[in-house]
Amino acid sequence: MCGIVAYIGTKPARPLLIEGLKRLEYRGYDSAGLAIMNGGLHCARAVGRVSVLENKVDQLGGFDGSLGIAHTRWATHGSVTEANAHPHRDDKSGIAIVHNGIIENYASVRTLLTEKGHRFTSETDTEVLAMLIGELYDPANGFDLERTVQSALREVTGAYAIAVVCEHEPDTLVVARKGSPLMVGIGSGEYIVASDPSAIVAHTTQAFPLDDYNVVKLSRDGFRTSTVDNLPITPKVTQLELELEEIELGGYEHYMRKEIFEQPNALRNCFRGRLDHKEGKVVLGGLQAYAPQLVRSRRIILTAQGTALHAAMIGEYLLEELAKIPSEVEYASEFRYRNPIIEDGTVVVAVSQSGETADTLAALHEAKDRGALALGVINAVGSTISRETHAGVYLRVGPEIGVASTKAFTGQVAVLTMMTLFLARRRFMSTEASARLMIELDAIPEKMDRVLEQDAFIKSVTEKYIHRENWLFLGRGYNYPTAMEGALKLKEISYIHAEGMPAAEMKHGPIALIDEGMPVVFIANKGPQYDKVMSNIEEVRSRGGHVIAVATEGDQAIKHVAEDVLYVPEVADPLSPLLTVVPLQLMAYHAAVLRGHDVDKPRNLAKSVTVE
Ligand code: F6R
Repeated sequence: MCGIVAYIGTKPARPLLIEGLKRLEYRGYDSAGLAIMNGGLHCARAVGRVSVLENKVDQLGGFDGSLGIAHTRWATHGSVTEANAHPHRDDKSGIAIVHNGIIENYASVRTLLTEKGHRFTSETDTEVLAMLIGELYDPANGFDLERTVQSALREVTGAYAIAVVCEHEPDTLVVARKGSPLMVGIGSGEYIVASDPSAIVAHTTQAFPLDDYNVVKLSRDGFRTSTVDNLPITPKVTQLELELEEIELGGYEHYMRKEIFEQPNALRNCFRGRLDHKEGKVVLGGLQAYAPQLVRSRRIILTAQGTALHAAMIGEYLLEELAKIPSEVEYASEFRYRNPIIEDGTVVVAVSQSGETADTLAALHEAKDRGALALGVINAVGSTISRETHAGVYLRVGPEIGVASTKAFTGQVAVLTMMTLFLARRRFMSTEASARLMIELDAIPEKMDRVLEQDAFIKSVTEKYIHRENWLFLGRGYNYPTAMEGALKLKEISYIHAEGMPAAEMKHGPIALIDEGMPVVFIANKGPQYDKVMSNIEEVRSRGGHVIAVATEGDQAIKHVAEDVLYVPEVADPLSPLLTVVPLQLMAYHAAVLRGHDVDKPRNLAKSVTVE
C-alpha cells in the first residue's frame, strides 16, 4: 500500500527520502513522488519504480533542501498516472501533501471547492484535501499550517495519514493520522516521519506512533503534538525494536525466500520462554491478566484476512478440539458489516501480521463496541491493532518484508497453538497431554530445517508443472486451511490460477476441472483422515490429474498413487500445518521465479492493506 516518508532537519532531504522510499518498496506501489523545500517547493512525480523518480529528480536538479515529503502510491482513486501520483498541490497557498488512506467525502468537498473556483488536475481524493487546506490557509487570521490542517481534517471523513508542507512556512512540517499508520522518528535536530518503521530505523530508534486524530507540527527546534481539536497531548516515545539487518536481504535473492528459510529460527524466537515443560503450561505474559476471563469464555471468534485468515482457521480447529471452546472464523471485512452477535463471554481474536489491515481493524472496533473482549495475534510491535486490543500475543518472528506472507503464517499458527494450550491446560487438558504437545512444538524448528533441505528437489518438482495454468490444492482437517494457503501463495506471486479447498469438496463440483495432467497438490500426511485423502487421490488419478503429495516420512504407499511426493517429518496432526505448508511456500516461490516474476513485488499487491 501507499508509503509516506518525510524529513525535517539539517541534512540534505533528497537522498534520505529516496532511501526511505526504497525501504518502503516492498509494500507495493505503482508510482512515486517527492517535494522538497528549497526557496520554493520543488516537486517531482513518476510512474513506476522509485529509481525512475530518482533519475528524474537528478536530471531536474534543484532538490537540495533539508525539508521534504515523499510518497509511494498504490492506486485507489484514479488510474496509475503521473497526475494522480503524490505529492498533490493546491492552487492558491503553496501547499503540498502526501496522503495514505481514502477521503470518503471527497466528492462533496470537491464540488464545494470547484464552486469556489479551484481547478483540479487529478482524479484523486488527496488533491481535494490539498485544495481544502489551501483554501482555509489564512495566517493573518491565525490559521497557520498547523491550525489549517486541524480545521481541514475536521471537515473530512475517511482514513488518512498525511504529511503537509507550505511554501509560506519553509521551516514547518505538519503530519496527522486517522486510520492509517504514521510514526515520528526523533533524531538529533532532525525528525523523520514514515508510515512504516523500516524507513526510520536506519536513522534513529527513538520514535512515537501517532494515534487517530493526532496532529504533529515539527520544526528543527522541536515538535508539538495535539488533536485535530487543538488539545495538546503528550506522545509516548518508545524504542523501535527493529534491527537494520532484519529488513535487509542478507545475501538472499528475495525477501520471500529469506523469510521462508528464517522460519525455524523465527519459531525458536516465538517459543522462547513461553513453553514451561515442567508444568506442562504455556506462559503468555500478554494474556496472563485476562486468564480467568478467557478460561470462562463461551465462544471465540477469530477474525482476519488472507493468509492470516487461513492461520485463524487452523486456530478454530485447535481451540475446539483441544480447549473445547466453541470457535469460529470470520473474514474481518464481513464481520464488520453484518451485524454480528456478540454475547456475554464472547472473545474476538484479531489475527494480523502488520497489525494495520483496515478490514481487521474495523472488525476489532466493531467487536469492542459490542462489548467483546478483544485479543490480538500480531507481528508488528506497536502497530495499531496491537495498541487497540485489550490484550494479545506477539508473534516475535521478526519483520516480514516479502509481500507473500510466509513466516508470519507459521508464527500465527504457532501462537494460536500456544494460546490453545494456555486455555486447554486451564480447562480440561491433562499436564501430560499438554506437555506431550509442547515437546512436539519445541521440535518443530528442527523438523522444518529438514523440510527446507529439500529445496532443490521441490524446485525440480515445480519445474515439471510450470506451464500448467490451473492447479488444485486439497487437504482435510487441519490441512484444509493449509491447502487454501498453498493455493493463495501460488496465485499471488506466480499468477497461476489455483484453488484450495477441503479434499472432499472437490467431488461436489471442482472435479469437473480435472483434465489430463492437471497438477493437484494433496496434503496427505499421516493423520486421522489419511485413508479418506487416499480415496480422494484415486478420484483425481482416475480422471488424469497429476498428484503431487505432501506426505509423512516413511509413507511408501503414497508413492504408488502420486507422481511426486514431498516428505515432511512425522508430527502430531494438530501441529502438522507448521510443516506441510513449507513445501507449498517453496513451490510457489520457485513457480514465480521460474516464470520470471518479481517475487517481492507481485503485480497489484500491497504488503499491508490499509484501505477497506
Ligand atoms: C498473502 C498476504 C495477505 C495478508 C492479508 C492480511 O500472502 O500476505 O493475504 O495475509 O492481507 O494481512 P495482515 O496479516 O497484515 O493483516
